Amino acid sequence: LEVSWNVEAAKKNGYPHYMLKEIHEQPEALRNTILPRLRDGIPDFSEDEIPDELFSFCDKIAIVACGTAMYAGMVGKALVEPIIKIPVSVNVASEFRYENPLVDDRTLVIVISQSGETIDTLAALRLSKERGAKILSVVNVKGSTIARESDYVFYTHAGPEIAVASTKAYMVQLASLYLIGCRMSMVRGKFSQKDAGEFVSRLLDTIPAVQKILENKAKLKTAASILAKAKDAFFVGRGLDYAFSLEGSLKLKEISYIHAEAYAAGELKHGTIALIEEDTPVIAVATQDHIYAKTISNIKEVKARGAFVILITKQHAEITDDICDMHFSVPVPHDRFTVFPVAVILQLLAYYTSDMKGLNVDKPRNLAKSVTVE
Ligand code: AGP
Repeated sequence: LEVSWNVEAAKKNGYPHYMLKEIHEQPEALRNTILPRLRDGIPDFSEDEIPDELFSFCDKIAIVACGTAMYAGMVGKALVEPIIKIPVSVNVASEFRYENPLVDDRTLVIVISQSGETIDTLAALRLSKERGAKILSVVNVKGSTIARESDYVFYTHAGPEIAVASTKAYMVQLASLYLIGCRMSMVRGKFSQKDAGEFVSRLLDTIPAVQKILENKAKLKTAASILAKAKDAFFVGRGLDYAFSLEGSLKLKEISYIHAEAYAAGELKHGTIALIEEDTPVIAVATQDHIYAKTISNIKEVKARGAFVILITKQHAEITDDICDMHFSVPVPHDRFTVFPVAVILQLLAYYTSDMKGLNVDKPRNLAKSVTVE
């Protein structure tokens, strides 16, 4: 038993769980995914053999995925659509495959999957191909079925992800979508070389920001000790912050078994706020300047009804007691790039909550790492 424990511990590099090890591997995963795709500081996919024509032929994009990969797609849409100026839809693969999706020979379908084996995502890929779409997949496992059946593959270089809860794979899926969006914007004449260079340098700035969160985890453990006592938790945000919140709620629910839901902050008054009681935890994400004030006013509504508010925002925000009980600031100046450190905060919140509850963090009940059956 001792020997097997040592082997096991060695595989975790001394971390108590694979998930915590993989959370800490994110700066390296980002470097390994981004840097090989840069030439003179701008995205270049020649090594991936992804031609620019793939980004000029299409009149719409359909992103298809499941779970965390789908939530990465939602962040991707919110970022990419405004810089390529064509419609981007995000589709739950298990729904998409049974709908009559608007996919044709002018559609670029971007399939996102860490394992490359998720059956619903593979079925959606095959349906799209039958309809004449071109398939670009963002996959972490080399030679996986989804990779083999795609027209083009943008491999993420996160390394093996063992924990069922996806962390570093999500992080590099985001980076991949940001790079693809930037390249596509250049090809379609929206981004100049200068724009692309600025975009890439902001993307690279997220790596030290992620590292900084990893080096300041104590307060996150305190926040997790509050969450660990909760039955329900709500995540709220607007725009990109809402897309981040969806992933944060999935992370918490799948490894801590706390019922967690993400809501567009403006939606709270249309029903959900009825669920807010004394000390109900609300994790609020407010990093987008143009809608910050609106989100803060929604947060004050839940705070006034007794919620315990954990606020994640940017460095400069003035935080008063009527807004939150705990506050985490992300060291990223540019709104569109806050997702990377915010993701680490939400991952660590979920991780510490699950660990404090004494649960099996790496292998949560009822879940598999790759869902290869319908
Ligand atoms: C992520 O934390 C979950 N374990 C799950 O939602 C996962 O993202 C989903 O099953 C998709 O898996 P894939 O990326 O391998 O296709």
